[in-house]
Amino acid sequence: MEPAAPSSDSESLPRRNFMAAASSVLIGSFVALTPLVTGIAFFLNPLLKRRANFKGSDGEGFFDIAKLSDLPDDGTPLRFVLRADKVDAWNEFKDQTIGTVYLRKMPGDQVIAFNDTCPHLGCKVEYQEGHQSFLCPCHASAFKLDGEPTNKIPPRGLDHLECKTDSQGQVWVKYQEFQCGVAKQEAV
Ligand code: FES
Repeated sequence: MEPAAPSSDSESLPRRNFMAAASSVLIGSFVALTPLVTGIAFFLNPLLKRRANFKGSDGEGFFDIAKLSDLPDDGTPLRFVLRADKVDAWNEFKDQTIGTVYLRKMPGDQVIAFNDTCPHLGCKVEYQEGHQSFLCPCHASAFKLDGEPTNKIPPRGLDHLECKTDSQGQVWVKYQEFQCGVAKQEAV
């Protein structure tokens, strides 16, 4: 007499048990890891953003820097320090210097703004009151009041910054820094 063949049900039972166990492990792992991954992403979020930025600009990146009435009507340049609270990853530092700029009031209450960094190698230019010009103390780059160079030392003129005046007479500047030593004004 031939031994009876095992039924197909008894063959597939261990496999079904294995599949069920494997699925449970997979689902359990997913449920357990989801909050962990979300938490890590939340924790690292400031690191994934720019390392530092400044609070207080309007939606377009302009900072309130001066009153129009503070500027001399004859176009004499005045230097202003742009300050704001700095956010660096999870830290916030109050009232930090963003940069320094020269402002000039022009006819029709137009305002022009220069970054005061010399485009030669990055020193700060100084307004020469008696000469109606800007001079860099490091290597003698010189510029007219409109920012154009008057010698061949700097590779370009002073860097203009975007600025605007609001209805309350506040002057706003979009501060940027630029590459030194190159002929083209390139933001860094
Ligand atoms: S850095 Fe200004 S002249 Fe060189």
